[in-house]
Parts: sequence; C-alpha cells; structure tokens
Amino acid sequence: MSRVQGRRAAVPESTPIQYLWELTRGARGGLLAAIVLSLGTSIITIFQPRILQNVVNEASAGAVRVDSLTTLAVLVVGASLVTSLGSYFGGISAERISRTLRERISGRLLSMTIREADKTNSADLLARSTSDSMVVRGMIMGGLLPTLGSVVMLVGIAYFMILMDAFLFGVTVGVVCLGFTLVMLVGKTVKRSSRELQEATGAFSVAMERMLASLRTIKAFNAQRMEYANVGKESTTLWRAGITLVRLQSFIQPALNLCLQGAFVAVILTGSLRLSQGTLTIGGLMAYLMYLFLLVNPIASLGGSYTQIQIGLGALGRLRELDGLDSEDYAAGHPVTLAPYRFAEPPLLEFRDVWFAYEPGTPTLRDVSLTIRRGEHVCVVGRSGSGKSTLIELIERFYEPDHGRILLDGQDIRFLDLGSYRARFALVGQGGDVLTGTLRDNLTLGDARHSEERLWEVLDMVGLRELVGRGEFTLDTDLGQHGITLSGGQRQRIAWARALLSDADILLLDEPTANLDPVTERAVRRLVQGLGGKTVITVTHQLDSVTEADSVIVIEDGRLVAQGSHEQLISSSPTYRALATPGPRLVA
Ligand SMILES: Nc1ncnc2c1ncn2[C@@H]1O[C@H](COP(=O)(O)OP(=O)(O)OP(=O)(O)O)[C@@H](O)[C@H]1O
Ligand SMILES: [Mg+2]
Repeated sequence: MSRVQGRRAAVPESTPIQYLWELTRGARGGLLAAIVLSLGTSIITIFQPRILQNVVNEASAGAVRVDSLTTLAVLVVGASLVTSLGSYFGGISAERISRTLRERISGRLLSMTIREADKTNSADLLARSTSDSMVVRGMIMGGLLPTLGSVVMLVGIAYFMILMDAFLFGVTVGVVCLGFTLVMLVGKTVKRSSRELQEATGAFSVAMERMLASLRTIKAFNAQRMEYANVGKESTTLWRAGITLVRLQSFIQPALNLCLQGAFVAVILTGSLRLSQGTLTIGGLMAYLMYLFLLVNPIASLGGSYTQIQIGLGALGRLRELDGLDSEDYAAGHPVTLAPYRFAEPPLLEFRDVWFAYEPGTPTLRDVSLTIRRGEHVCVVGRSGSGKSTLIELIERFYEPDHGRILLDGQDIRFLDLGSYRARFALVGQGGDVLTGTLRDNLTLGDARHSEERLWEVLDMVGLRELVGRGEFTLDTDLGQHGITLSGGQRQRIAWARALLSDADILLLDEPTANLDPVTERAVRRLVQGLGGKTVITVTHQLDSVTEADSVIVIEDGRLVAQGSHEQLISSSPTYRALATPGPRLVA
C-alpha cells in the first residue's frame, strides 16, 4: 500500500533543455512553423546578393534585364513577408510556452506540502513565477528561434563568399573568429550573473512584500527608516547584479561590431587590390560586400542569442528547482466516504501515541493519544504555544506525525485519499483566512452547487447579512487584499459561513470566536450546538464553550495531560483548574 502524503518529488534529473522540451508541449506545431519560416527568410536572403551581382554587372554593361530586377524585388518583398509570418508563429508559440510554464508553476505550488511552504518565501516564489518565466519567454523569442536561421544564413553566406573569393573569405573569417572567441569566453559569466540577478530580484521582492504586508506596524512604530534601509540594501544588491550583466552585455555587442568593421575595412582594401589586378569584377566586390553586410545580422543575432540562452538557462534552472518541492499526492489512497453507523463502531477520530516536531529534535506534540466519538463536541484547551493548533493541523494532514498513527473511522489516515479525506472536515482557522476576491468567491470557493438562497441563509446565520445589504455592498464586491476592507470579526464570520456551507461532518474550529463580540459569539455557539450529527472539535480559551462540551482535552507543553468533562477535570486536573479559574476566559 502506498503512503499518500509527504511524497518527496524526485529531484529533477532532466537537463534544462529536456525541461524546456516538456514545456513546448502544445506549442510544437507553431515552433516548427516559426523555425521553417525563419529558415525560409535565411535562404531567400542568401540569394539576394547573387541576383544583385547580376543586376550590377548588367547595369555596368549598359542594360539591366527586367526579369533580373523583378526577381530581386520578389526576393526582397518575399523575405519581409516570410519574416513577419515567422515572428508571428514564434510569438504565439512563446506565449503558449509561457502559459504552460505559469500553469506548471502554480500547479506545483498548490500541491506542495505545508512543511515545504513553511520553508519557502512566497515573495521569492512570486518573483520566480513572474520574472523568471518572462526571461524564459525572452530566451525562446530572442535566443532559440533566431539561432537556427542565423546558423543557416551564416553557412549559406560563407558558402557563397568562398565560391566568390576564397582569399577574401579567409581575411573575413580571421577577423570574425576573434569576436566569437570573445563572446564564448564571456558567455559563462553572463549565465552566472543572470542567475545572481534573478536571485537578487527575488530578494528584493521579499523585502518589498515584508514592507507592504506590515505597513501599519511600520508606521505605528515609526520604523520607516529601518524598512527603507532594508529595501534599499536589497535594491543595491539588485543594482550591482544588473550592472555586472549590463557591463558584460555592453562589452559583447561592441566587440562584435568592432570585428565586423575590421572585416569590412580588410575586405575593401584587399578587394580593391584584387579589382585592380582584374581578378574580381565590380559586381563581384559589391555582392561580396553585401554578403559581408548581411553577415552582420546573423553574427550579431547569434551573439545576442547566446547571451539570451545563457540568461534563460539560468532562469530555467531556478524554475526547475520547483519540481523538487515536496508535494502532496492526491492520486493515491482509498477514497473516504462517510461510514454508515455500525454497532460497536470504532471511534470517529483517534490519535495513537502521536509524536510530531516542526524542527527535528524539538517535539511539539509528545506521545498524544486521544479518541473522539461521532457527534461529540470536544474542546481542546491549553496555554498559548502548547500545541493545540498543531493538533488541528495534523488532523487536516497539513503535516504528518513523526511517530504514531491517526485513525479516521478506524483506518490509518496516511492511506486515505487526501481529497476525500479533507472533504470530511471544515476548518475555521485562528486568523479567519479571507482570500483576495469577492464575498461569493470566499463562500463558495469555486463550488457551484450552492444556490443564491443558501448563501443568503448562511450569511444570515453568521450575522453578515446586514453588511451585504449596506450601501453598494453585494456578494460580488471586492473585499480587497485578504479582506482588508473587513473587520477582524467580519473576516472570522466569513470563515464560519464557509464552514457552514460545506458538507463536512467534522468541524475543526481553532479559536473560532476570538474576534467576535459576546452577542455574536453566543449566537455562533448556539449555531454549533444546533448542528445535529456533526462532530465538532474546538480549540478555545472560552469557559462557556468548555462547560458545554461533551469532552475536554487538556494539552500542556505538547502532552495530553487530561481528557474528560468540565466537572471531572475541575476536580481531577490541576492544569485544567489553573486554566479555568482566573476568570471567565481560559487565557494563558
Ligand atoms: N510552522 C511552524 N514551524 C515551526 N514551529 C511552529 C510552527 N507552527 C507552530 N510552531 C511552534 O509549535 C508550538 C505550538 O504551536 P501551536 O500553534 O500549536 O500552539 P497553540 O497551542 O495553538 O498556541 P496559541 O494558543 O497561541 O494559538 C509553538 O512553540 C510554535 O512556536
Ligand atoms: Mg493556536
């Protein structure tokens, strides 16, 4: 039987080129068309000087033939047409590849485990998925696609140049080779610098994200100076990386130009000598010079392509690392359904000797064993940091126990299909998470089954109906980034509404009324009591909830120190007594 969660994705063994090949799926037809058309452009261009040579020679003899002129005109116009078609197909293929890349990245990030997400920085990942994928797009358009055409053009031009005057060609090659050697030498450094640049972009995004996410705290504590310096530091690193790349790139282009200019001078001088000796015609020299002129394009383009490819390979390398992220596996395991009631049924949920550590060696939960029966209302209490939320996270399978087992309906949850397992639970988290978007998005989470009436009914239940009726506010009003336009209590009530809409039979509530006023809190508690047949697990500091619970679990420093009813625990558990006695709230 295969384990479902915590599947370590194979560290990517494919080369960047294999990775790119996978990305081209769906765009290969367009790419092929772009390549063929770019080859077409090159071939047409190669023949232009040959025709020009005829025209010039005919003109110097006193009569230009109409068909020679027509052929020249057709070749020039044809080359432009084919070029524009080629760049169209190249463009749409590159867009398609960018889309595949974006979808692949978002899929990877969505399926990564929470443990992996804890290790990564969201702003850095954001920078990767935007700037790196733009770089990859640039590599295809400005690097890979022009390369083949340029090579064909280079070979074709070289062939005709040799045919026309092998000696002149020797002179040309000598000067041009010098330029190429320089480009190759610099290329490796370009790749390294590009990677540094992308990393610096990521670090800058992280600093900006930190600043924007904590703007209120920064202003309230007058910490602008520190924050400005922090962002400034990253900006300087980014600037340095950019400057290095600019230096390298600006060196490559002029170096190539210089070589080409040198080649022009050398060809004109040597050509003039050969003209005076009568070994070359004026048409031949002009055609040769035109070839040399045409040679500038593929050489410059190859130089540019080479740097673009090096930069792109750097970005691809970073993107490929995302494939190595530890990911959840939704494809394995048994489907979970609501088990029918059985006589002497197993507990609904059971922890058996569960140990868990976020950091190896420092366990957060220690040897926890507990049972929760179907339909029970269970409260989890304990001091702040004792491990209550961690318990909920293990039930949600955001993390796996290091030792011990968790069972649902008597089955080890590691072997249950993750999607249908999670569908059994509805979570109201400690913060009342609101997604950036509308109220409707937040309630339905893409589930189209909920009718408009049901949405209104639930909004009524959690006391949000008056908010929606107010002013311009509708179900489709944008709530701002993570619900910034709402109060903390309103955000928590949205989380409640979401949980009430779900079909789950087990509610996981992590301090679900922490942000609610006493009136709403009482209303919500009544709501929970009225949820017939549902099992409710509530982490709470509130005495009222605890006294009404069927069973209370007391956690202390990661250990389950007591489980029982409020009355039993008051008399038997000193930890519980200490938590319960200070006042109406079970605060730490
Ligand atoms: N993602 C994480 N990575 C590393 N350590 C964590 C992580 N989440 C929680 N912890 C640590 O685990 C311990 C238990 O945290 P947990 O959130 O479960 O406490 P809690 O009982 O819910 O506290 P509170 O009542 O304050 O919400 C704490 O010491 C905390 O620092
Ligand atoms: Mg907590």
